[in-house]
Amino acid sequence: MAKLKWGMIGGGQGSQIGPAHRLGALADGLFEMTAGALDVDPERGRAFAMSLGVAEDRAYANWQEMLEGERKRDDRVDLVTVATPNNTHFEITKAFLEAGFHVLCEKPMTMTVEEGEEIVRTARASGKVCAVNYCYSAYPMVRQMKAMVAAGEIGRVRSIVANFSHGHHAAGDDAENPRVRWRYDPAQAGISGQMADCGIHALHLATFITGDEIEKLSADFASTVEGRQLEDDAMVNFRMSGGTVGRLWSSSIALGRQHGLDIQIFGETGGFRWASEQPNQVYYHKLGGRVEIMEKGEAGLGEDAQRLSRVAIAHPEGFPLAVANIYVDLAARIAGKDEGNLPTAEDGLRSMASVYAAVASARDGSAWVDARPPMFR
Ligand code: NAI
Repeated sequence: MAKLKWGMIGGGQGSQIGPAHRLGALADGLFEMTAGALDVDPERGRAFAMSLGVAEDRAYANWQEMLEGERKRDDRVDLVTVATPNNTHFEITKAFLEAGFHVLCEKPMTMTVEEGEEIVRTARASGKVCAVNYCYSAYPMVRQMKAMVAAGEIGRVRSIVANFSHGHHAAGDDAENPRVRWRYDPAQAGISGQMADCGIHALHLATFITGDEIEKLSADFASTVEGRQLEDDAMVNFRMSGGTVGRLWSSSIALGRQHGLDIQIFGETGGFRWASEQPNQVYYHKLGGRVEIMEKGEAGLGEDAQRLSRVAIAHPEGFPLAVANIYVDLAARIAGKDEGNLPTAEDGLRSMASVYAAVASARDGSAWVDARPPMFR
């Protein structure tokens, strides 16, 4: 089968997420890196793209040139990944969808709920795949929890407790670091800092694992580093469509915590605990039984967890292979095969609605706010 042609915007040399996309997209021989506009600095971006094997005429100075260059070609790229800072996602994603490309957009998909709705409409009208990189949902053991919840193995989910709290933005004197600065600059990050940067991953996991929506929430935000305009610490209580009670703590000043994403799911007859720093294990407790550790690659796991396990049991599989799983599911979706677990523009929109609800709530003394996108009410 011919490889799909892949282009990337952002994710330049030294970026945080760029390497995970390159490792992920190329891991299974499904995609080849064909084009790129990788950096805000045109020459640095072109040079880096060529160093990765992109032909000189497809190493573009910026995304507009890439759009014009690629749309004219007979052998145009099939999929474009958008891995730039948040304030550019909307216009790039919309433009490439309208020009007939499939798009994988980084989270948060847009800066506003209205833009999110526009991307959903554009994706639906274009008939192209628009995915959002909620890559934690592609870890095999997260798929295992989802399958077991769907099979009723822990009964109705009563409660979820999630964290996405790290300490990497705790240093006040690091505020001018360009990789940190944009995340707290409303012009580049949007209306929210830590909640939009990390909290939405945890909320997406809650919806992904249960299959339910976040209906309403109440939030308390704090900006603890002097001069920071957006929150770096958030506590959110939420309620889900299936009646599940949810709690989320998301912070970027939690010194001593490293990556800091974990989730606990408490059902009527069982519960799970999973942490992204030990992604190959799920702690599973069945009412009346003992706590078991389920391991990636072991016999008896569900089909999806088996399909997305790459190396033999006990060998670690980490973040780039979770991103690779997103690309596996994307390739399937592009080929017209049903890959229902791929996070899509609809998920990106739901996240934006949650972020806006959290900001509104925090500004209104933690009042409860409807967290559903107007389009889905
Ligand atoms: P970063 O600041 O480390 O890197 C951004 C890269 O984009 C740089 O190479 C920069 O030169 C390039 N860039 C900026 N503007 C550009 C433009 N107009 N055209 C082309 N390139 C441009 O940022 P980071 O951490 O890599 O984040 C990028 C995006 O990925 C953000 O939206 C962030 O929220 C998301 N992200 C997602 C993660 C996930 O787990 N799914 C993890 C980390 C980031």
